[in-house]
Amino acid sequence: MDRIEFIKKSALFCGAIMVGGALIESCQKNNPAPAPVNFSINLTDPAYAALKTVGGFIEYSNAIVIRTGASTYVALSDICTHSGCTVSYYSNQNQIVCPCHGGTFDINGNVVSGPPPSALAKYNVSVNGNTLTVSS
Ligand code: FES
Repeated sequence: MDRIEFIKKSALFCGAIMVGGALIESCQKNNPAPAPVNFSINLTDPAYAALKTVGGFIEYSNAIVIRTGASTYVALSDICTHSGCTVSYYSNQNQIVCPCHGGTFDINGNVVSGPPPSALAKYNVSVNGNTLTVSS
């Protein structure tokens, strides 16, 4: 190997290390933490009428709240675990979809497909009378 060839190969090697390091660093910045939430809503408020129906949902304060049964609800973080984009619930597909890289989650927050490395955070839900409370 002559001197020119050695310099070219060294430059390629160093470039590969720099790109690899940048990729590793960017991956480490992924998997953002869910936002802490703590809110209550009045289920008789017309603004939350969607929650009167099984399958209905609202998106509120970094959470997606879905009515899953006659008296059961699930509340999930709306922050994608891949790179932090805001996910949305599509009730007709019964899936939560991330618009950035196509990650999908089921209504329990589990990853169905795509690059998200982990499930959406699940929040605590309690109902007392007409008050639904969601907390992290
Ligand atoms: S940020 Fe959601 S799939 Fe990439």
